[in-house]
Amino acid sequence: MKITKYIIPVAGMGTRFLPATKAIPKEMLPVVDKPLIQYVVDEAAAAGAEEIILVTHPDKHPLKAHFSKNEKLEEALEKSGKDALLQKVYSILPAGVTVTTVEQMEPLGLGHAVLCAREIVGDEPFGVILPDVLIYDDKQGCMEQMVQEFEQQGESIIGVEEVPLEDVDKYGIVSLANSENVGSKNRKQRMSGVVEKPAPESAPSRLSVVGRYILTPRVMEILENTKIGAGGEIQLTDAIATLIGEEPVFAYTFKGESYDCGCKYGYLRANIEYGLRDLEVSEQLQRLINLHAN
Ligand code: G1P
Repeated sequence: MKITKYIIPVAGMGTRFLPATKAIPKEMLPVVDKPLIQYVVDEAAAAGAEEIILVTHPDKHPLKAHFSKNEKLEEALEKSGKDALLQKVYSILPAGVTVTTVEQMEPLGLGHAVLCAREIVGDEPFGVILPDVLIYDDKQGCMEQMVQEFEQQGESIIGVEEVPLEDVDKYGIVSLANSENVGSKNRKQRMSGVVEKPAPESAPSRLSVVGRYILTPRVMEILENTKIGAGGEIQLTDAIATLIGEEPVFAYTFKGESYDCGCKYGYLRANIEYGLRDLEVSEQLQRLINLHAN
């Protein structure tokens, strides 16, 4: 079965990036010259997305505006012959993709955000992408890799990667049905559990959830009855833990490099490394880095 609908939760306040995010949604912060949201929409489009569902908040209107047509801007670019820039503006919304918005009025957590999209998603498997995390791979995006795996058996699959033990309390942490398979050549492993932000001493592993999910619609029913969990929020992690008791759920160690842009260091690292891949600025940036290395 094809995955055509992707939920991207964007209602959060982005307090970790204040004051930058007082009036600008954190998902609109740029990495080089593209806002974070556009990277993940492109990743979903490359995986076959037809409908992107932004779970948003009325205060975050710039996100909606980013994906809407701006005739004045297009006319101005056309008149001044700035074709390359015009193409950049045209390609904000990938061909064949529509963006729908649904509002999450209260900050009740990621699980609640996903549930807000239930009606639009309907009774089919769907993807979830968290725009805080960028994943770079020069061959195939993370979501596209996961879709390929999903298409084999049609079972839920969650992107994971190993993190240092001191960082496990920042993420959902999974346990594998066969714990000896951590780091195995087989990237797809059946999960036996997942917990949200455990303390290092009680973490079941160092395998963290990176913010890429393909889930069967049963998880929406589970979310309806999921109680408030870690951090006083309705956690998607808790609903997935329940799903694991009912259906096979897989962890997938993706190919590529992740950047946690939800924290300052990860965001700056993304700007430097994406900058080094950008033809326009890579040389200058490399020179600057060399200067500071000496
Ligand atoms: C969320 C999820 C967590 C996941 C993380 C990835 O947490 O709840 O399971 O590991 O995203 O970035 P948040 O970063 O929103 O606190």
